[in-house]
Amino acid sequence: MGLKALSVGVVLLILYGYARRREPRVHIPVMLSAFVIDMSIVAYIEGSREAVRQAMGPTSPLMKVHLACSILTLALYLVQIGSGILKARGVAVPFHRQTGLAFLLFRVGNLVTSFLIPTHNLSYRLVDLGVTIRPPRGIEQAP
Ligand code: HEM
Repeated sequence: MGLKALSVGVVLLILYGYARRREPRVHIPVMLSAFVIDMSIVAYIEGSREAVRQAMGPTSPLMKVHLACSILTLALYLVQIGSGILKARGVAVPFHRQTGLAFLLFRVGNLVTSFLIPTHNLSYRLVDLGVTIRPPRGIEQAP
């Protein structure tokens, strides 16, 4: 539950940063902090559960929606940071607002689906279950 609580916290932080979008001195550090925390969550999940390898295997439709939301969130983070830096330098970026709204949609989608996915739906590794595969009787094992 700890990670989900942290994820709720990040969404609240993003909503705060969005509400302060007219104040770059608040908006920018808040959004960058949300990005750093989100990347830490992804790194932790990958390190502890090999999320990418599991995601490549067979998954439920709900998990596919969750993955799509997560990948689009990551891509849009990069779009927002890039276009945000340009905006901060005075370059007119017409799409930062629209991509920002799409980002919000997918980040909230990621959060909602994370609560709907049953944890036992994850695939298990045989080795984690203590299963050992031995050659049939009569077949010599290589030295
Ligand atoms: C990651 C999620 C982010 C979202 C959802 C978001 C969303 C928005 C929105 C909706 C606006 C108002 C745009 C407009 O009305 O034209 C805005 C403004 C702005 N954003 Fe972002 N943004 C994000 C990240 C960033 C980042 C990382 C930076 C900088 C590195 C940044 C820099 C700016 C700047 C400079 C403005 C203009 C503020 C002003 O003077 O009115 N944003 N943002």
